[in-house]
Amino acid sequence: MSSKVFSASVVGLDAEMVEVEAETGGGEMGTFAIVGLPDKAVTEARERVKGAIKNSNFDFPKIRVTVNLAPAYLPKHGPSFDLPIALSILQKIGFIPEKIDLNNFIFIGELAFSGDLRPVKGVLPIALLARRLGTAALFVPEENAAEAKLAKTVPVFPIKNLRQLVEHLRGPAFIAEHPYRDPELFNVPILYDMSQIKGQEHVKRAMEIAAAGGHNLLMFGPPGSGKTMLAKTFPSVLPDLNFEEALEVTKIYSVAGKLKEKDGLVKSRPFRAPHHTASNVALVGGGAQPGPGEISLAHRGVLFLDEFAEFPRPVLEAMRQPLEDGVITVSRAAGHLDFPAKFILLASMNPCPCGYFGDRQKACSCSAMQIQNYRKKISGPIIDRIDMHLEVPRVDFKKLSEELPSENSAVIKKRVQRAREIQAERFKNEKIFTNSEMSSDKTRFCCNLDKEAKQIISSAVETLNLSARAYFRILKLARTIADLEENPNISVANLAEALQYREKST
Ligand SMILES: Nc1ncnc2c1ncn2[C@@H]1O[C@H](COP(=O)(O)OP(=O)(O)OP(=O)(O)O)[C@@H](O)[C@H]1O
Ligand SMILES: [Mg+2]
Repeated sequence: MSSKVFSASVVGLDAEMVEVEAETGGGEMGTFAIVGLPDKAVTEARERVKGAIKNSNFDFPKIRVTVNLAPAYLPKHGPSFDLPIALSILQKIGFIPEKIDLNNFIFIGELAFSGDLRPVKGVLPIALLARRLGTAALFVPEENAAEAKLAKTVPVFPIKNLRQLVEHLRGPAFIAEHPYRDPELFNVPILYDMSQIKGQEHVKRAMEIAAAGGHNLLMFGPPGSGKTMLAKTFPSVLPDLNFEEALEVTKIYSVAGKLKEKDGLVKSRPFRAPHHTASNVALVGGGAQPGPGEISLAHRGVLFLDEFAEFPRPVLEAMRQPLEDGVITVSRAAGHLDFPAKFILLASMNPCPCGYFGDRQKACSCSAMQIQNYRKKISGPIIDRIDMHLEVPRVDFKKLSEELPSENSAVIKKRVQRAREIQAERFKNEKIFTNSEMSSDKTRFCCNLDKEAKQIISSAVETLNLSARAYFRILKLARTIADLEENPNISVANLAEALQYREKST
């Protein structure tokens, strides 16, 4: 008779059931083997499990022990199988009576030598799997309980150590179920407020539009004109996450092992600012054990690429597909994995290598060739995916020293939130939240233009040589500008403003 215990493995962003089964006897005395495609961490589990069982005052069997993790084809990463492995052994050797049926439960957790449980990654996807399967209870390390309970209907039991769990299972049960509390969604305090920025009103306006509709924005201007500073104020006008979005983001952070929140839920829109030396894998995801990259960690938030032209071209090109589809597909020998990547791209760069091309005060020292080569670092297809191109000129000294009151971020954010509410109503029967996510069909349906506006856009398509993508992106941007005015129709002025942000070929 072998004993079966259930656990789960995270593949991509989803979990799959894993069966853990212990056998004793046969073969060499005192050996302990784990089979079923374990990676190095699972093999190391042998030592941890052995130590934890002994230090919890149970005897580790002196005969041969074999543990099988099934299905064999499923890759199993990380130490979260320690707990189910220990339990299946303890049931096999009688410390948990055979009549106690563990088959309706899922167990996850890393064991310390002492027998204490340590938190693991990817708990939310496992809890969502348990909910789908109607699992009777999910046993997790104490620190993961709040995250697991985000799945709401699944009974979650927080475990301190192996001994405590075994006594609870042997009965009478004494560990209390983790209670469900509706998580409060509030943003973390914002460090930079838009009112700290003098002038640059046109950039602040563009940021408001980008935040409202989820549009991409590129700033270019001379050194010291405030591009990086402006970008840092962007989170202060981003709308709050709704619960569904927060769950999506939490899943990604959970799998990446970057979940820091005490109650297990990511509450603020992510703002990721990877350096231009970041590798392709770090940026788009993948790797030997495929995990989410920066573009997925920025999901539902912002990816800020400062010094845009310094990023290696292949790294930027790898973002073409996710910028279009909002998802990155990582291909591995074992199959494809999808990671969501719907983010606002906020980029900033100088207009040329010396930085002063077009500056009103300092002459540019670059040759025409140098300027051309610098611009070529960013390909046409990437430029085409950026809805708003903003020149950020230096602010003159008079403006910098003036004490003119400027709108603060809270006021701007209110307008952004209102525009998001309008979009939520528009997309209530769909799986999207913002205008930028509309399909071409939806754009046609939601962005009706009057005769005059139609004429304007058709002449713009001709004179600016706009691609079909650019055409739809302009309509979506105009839709957001109209939403900010709470205007049900796109006016000529709304369209004209959207057009003015489009890249003018140089
Ligand atoms: N409009 C502004 N209002 C207030 N302070 C400003 C403004 N513009 C620039 N500054 C000040 O100048 C500093 C430098 O700006 P910032 O680093 O944002 O420039 P940048 O455009 O990113 O330059 P670079 O191209 O060299 O990266 C800021 O930290 C800030 O103190
Ligand atoms: Mg900068």
